Amino acid sequence: MDKFLIKGGYPLAGVVTISNAKNAALPILAAALLTEGKTVIKKCPRLEDVTAMSGLLRVLGAKVKRSGSDLVVQAAGPLSGFAPYDIVRKMRASFCVLGPLVARLRSAKVSLPGGCVIGPRPVDLHLKGLQALGVRITIDGGYVLADASRLRGGTIYLGGPFGSTVLGTANVMMAATLARGTTVIENAASEPEVVNLVECLTRMGARIRGAGSSRLEIRGVERLKGCTIELIPDRIEAGTFMVAAAITHGDVVIKGLRLDHLHAVVDKLREVGVGITPVGRNACRVTADGRFRPVDVATLPYPGFPTDLQAQLMALLTLAEGVSVITEKIYPDRFMHVAELARMGANIRKEGPHAIISGLPKLSGAPVMASDLRASAALVLAGLAAEGETEIRRVYHIDRGYEHIEKKLARLGAQIRRLPDDQPIPQS
Ligand code: EPU
Repeated sequence: MDKFLIKGGYPLAGVVTISNAKNAALPILAAALLTEGKTVIKKCPRLEDVTAMSGLLRVLGAKVKRSGSDLVVQAAGPLSGFAPYDIVRKMRASFCVLGPLVARLRSAKVSLPGGCVIGPRPVDLHLKGLQALGVRITIDGGYVLADASRLRGGTIYLGGPFGSTVLGTANVMMAATLARGTTVIENAASEPEVVNLVECLTRMGARIRGAGSSRLEIRGVERLKGCTIELIPDRIEAGTFMVAAAITHGDVVIKGLRLDHLHAVVDKLREVGVGITPVGRNACRVTADGRFRPVDVATLPYPGFPTDLQAQLMALLTLAEGVSVITEKIYPDRFMHVAELARMGANIRKEGPHAIISGLPKLSGAPVMASDLRASAALVLAGLAAEGETEIRRVYHIDRGYEHIEKKLARLGAQIRRLPDDQPIPQS
């Protein structure tokens, strides 16, 4: 296990290029199970979660190989319909193989994912959606046993207490592509990653209308074929680098992003006082000086402010001049970073799904522990701004979803090093 050592207080400057989206890659990898043909995923990011999903696809019988920056998947068969607990528990996105497996094999046994550090993450909507397509579901010994001998289209409202579901929409939509008849998903997720999946499925020959809206209509087809798909840029990585530039009072050009996927983020950061200027079509310049302004923000499904940037925004707001409120409306318990930010001097009070952040002029470096992917990113950001040294343990969390983050930050002038966790910190 590695750790990061960060010496804070260096303004970032230069140009950084955003990688493609993890959360687009994972369901698209699962979609490759729907066809015997070859799926070529262009510029697939090198991330631990992509490696884990590739491992699961191999266990299921698919061939997965790197070809330069692309990932090539072929599930020519024979395939297994068994996704074991040991793999699924490590990464919830692996539950997304259920829809493709029932569509392709008409039966599957997929482990329930189990606990998650960011709070309860049920899969009831995934199962409800599949049942509406005629799939018989039994839960036994921690596994979902799915029998889809009569897979047919249906109409389903896919909303829970916290709104739409991204991977639930993906799972049900993938199964519906090979069902007999038409499926309508009401309250479908409209995240750009879902739209990217629709693009992939359409290239495979699926007939889907309504991508990007809350109503998806899928007309089932007999079979799907291989395709080549470009992934969208990672909007969460882009937002993280926007905060990195801002929190260090830097001047950074972020390339390769889609600003049209980041309206809520840009709007909120501007309210905080961050300068964001588009540069051409796929880049922007981010600058900041002086103290930040406090804001109220609630996380919401797309196009609202993403929960996956809540922790990073909180790191920035710890340095605002005044009191900010963050309300977490997707994962009300996703506040593992609060206690760690407090170790760096931040003043944050948590009340139910709200965090009340009283901004301070500075943070101070400290040894802290990464608990999940986005919480780790928030600690890196806080470390970049803090006085002194911050040591972040368990950075494997960050490797799940950020491609070479320390190298990208170091190229912008950050003083950040990766060390093995057992190595003593060098005296400087
Ligand atoms: N929910 C249910 N029942 C379900 C499914 C979801 O009640 O069957 C609830 C969840 O508990 C949550 C809300 O619905 O309160 C939304 O969850 P969603 O299903 O949309 O989350 P997900 O699809 O499991 C994806 C991302 C997450 C991201 C969320 C929300 C991937 C691989 N994961 O998860 O990303 O936070 O959407 O945008 O796409 C991350 O990248 O760090 C990450 C956690």
